[in-house]
Amino acid sequence: MVKKLLPIQTCLTGKVTVPGDKSISHRAIIFGALSKGRTTITHFLDGEDCLRTIHAFEALGVTIRQEGQQVIIDSQGADNFIEPTQPIYLGNSGTTARLLLGVLAGLPFHIALYGDESLTRRPMDRVVQPLKQMGAQIDGRENSKYLPISVRGGALQSIAFIPPVKSAQVKSAVLLAGLFGNGNTTVIESTKTRDHTENMIKAFSGNISVQDNSISVPSNQQLIGTTLAVPGDISSAAFFLVAAAMVPNSKVTIEDVGLNPTRTGVIDVLQQMGASIEVVEERYIGGEAVGSITISSSTLHGIEISGEVIPRMIDEIPIVALLATQATGTTIIRDAEELRYKETDRIQTIIDTLTKLGATVEATTDGMIISGESTLSGAQVEAFGDHRIGMMIAVASLITEEEVTLVDPECINISYPTFFEDLSQLITS
Ligand code: S3P
Repeated sequence: MVKKLLPIQTCLTGKVTVPGDKSISHRAIIFGALSKGRTTITHFLDGEDCLRTIHAFEALGVTIRQEGQQVIIDSQGADNFIEPTQPIYLGNSGTTARLLLGVLAGLPFHIALYGDESLTRRPMDRVVQPLKQMGAQIDGRENSKYLPISVRGGALQSIAFIPPVKSAQVKSAVLLAGLFGNGNTTVIESTKTRDHTENMIKAFSGNISVQDNSISVPSNQQLIGTTLAVPGDISSAAFFLVAAAMVPNSKVTIEDVGLNPTRTGVIDVLQQMGASIEVVEERYIGGEAVGSITISSSTLHGIEISGEVIPRMIDEIPIVALLATQATGTTIIRDAEELRYKETDRIQTIIDTLTKLGATVEATTDGMIISGESTLSGAQVEAFGDHRIGMMIAVASLITEEEVTLVDPECINISYPTFFEDLSQLITS
């Protein structure tokens, strides 16, 4: 399918609530399934990736009822899981693949996993390697680097692990496997990554100790089902933050957004670029910070984005790159080589897309250099099956001189099925 997107004639105003956080929604299903008793999740992200996690745990015999944004899980914990009779399909979802591998490593079953074309190209050795070290038997394509992968799990050895990549998925996979270990499993991160797994173990009455960047989880814990409200996804909110920042005379409030400090790099970077942002009503829900963000359009300038902020905004780099094309001066993004291992090689797809729309962007090995004050033009552009590239294109189309034709808009359903409705609700008529 293609979608014709017209430039905006007015501005963006009003309030919006974005769907539930993707990372937290995945983890709520995983920990609900590992726990004894009933778990009730509200504001669950009803997007394709999170549905893959639901299907994976249904294949393990867990009873999960979903009615839109409410999910009810009734489980007796991992001891009652059953061995699936069929391989499990993971679609496009890297988080399902990596976190599920951590769980399967500890189960006495043989289970095969496969994904779509994009997921089949994404590296799995980053989790396979520590899980093998813990004693799981894992075999996959190209020396277990890629899906399809099969796992024969069981009792595991607890380890201390220093991930070679800055990845919350790797950390989470090892911590999940650590629940099936024979002692304390420790992950020591060089740079802090999103800590929703840590928060959720606490929310499900589990034990976990966090000291600076060292996280330890004891094995043989009985997690207990709970009630959880998922905060709005800051990674989805970022598209409206950027839209309001760059379309003149705009003022938008995004309500009930997750403000976990390991995720708020986009707010810090927008502020450094000169955006006018106010965060109010900060409170905690299920161990996660939540609040409302109001942003107004302003004059923006280019900056250097590198170092510890990168893992705190890794999924927001496509949309921030678009914003940088509208700022004065040059924006340099460094230390972001991980972008190459996302749903697409996002360094390449950001550059291909923005260049096609008339911007001047140059790739580097670990980021990009973006020239500001570009006039963007209309074109037919592809999302390459990457939801965040699709939404970046849709936001870019607000300010192009001519119409933009977006090829494959359906890929946005992976993380934000109601994106176009929510965007149009903000466009002042
Ligand atoms: C995620 C972690 C990040 C992020 C992804 C979700 C998670 O990936 O890009 O969208 O839920 O743990 P990495 O851990 O590979 O950096």
